[in-house]
Amino acid sequence: MARPNAIELSFEIAAERCDDLTPLVYRRLFDAHPEARTMFRSEGSELVKGSMLALTIEAILDFAGERTGHFRLIACEISSHDAYGTPRELFIAFFGVIAGTLREVLGSEWSAEIDSAWRNLITEIEGVVALEKV
Ligand code: HEM
Repeated sequence: MARPNAIELSFEIAAERCDDLTPLVYRRLFDAHPEARTMFRSEGSELVKGSMLALTIEAILDFAGERTGHFRLIACEISSHDAYGTPRELFIAFFGVIAGTLREVLGSEWSAEIDSAWRNLITEIEGVVALEKV
């Protein structure tokens, strides 16, 4: 099998250490951005949050890898999130929240290579978001 890229590797190591990133990611999101909490519906939001994270991770892996198609979700979701009332800076911040969560779970296994891959990824995603019309 091909060697995983650094982004993939960060998710693989995290999966060995943590069954479900969902509670960690949303705790981190709501600590850093408390206003995000009320953007989710009050009932049934656990399902939406789980699915939003799973789809975002799929899109990230595709964006950082082969770009077969799932990566397009990122551009597509910008306008639906405009409609949900999610400011674009917050939309972008979600990727940083995922990176921060992985960093916490990986501990000393968070390498310089993984760190720079995540920095580059987030810069590229900022570019994707900037290209979308308001
Ligand atoms: C902190 C930033 C974000 C906030 C506050 C946010 C907020 C929301 C809200 C409120 C909904 C649900 C609407 C409903 O109740 O039906 C939602 C759904 C969704 N979000 Fe986000 N979002 C954020 C970032 C992202 C990002 C970066 C992506 C992916 C690129 C994404 C992908 C999705 C998807 C795919 C759904 C639909 C989930 C489903 O129902 O299966 N979100 N988001």
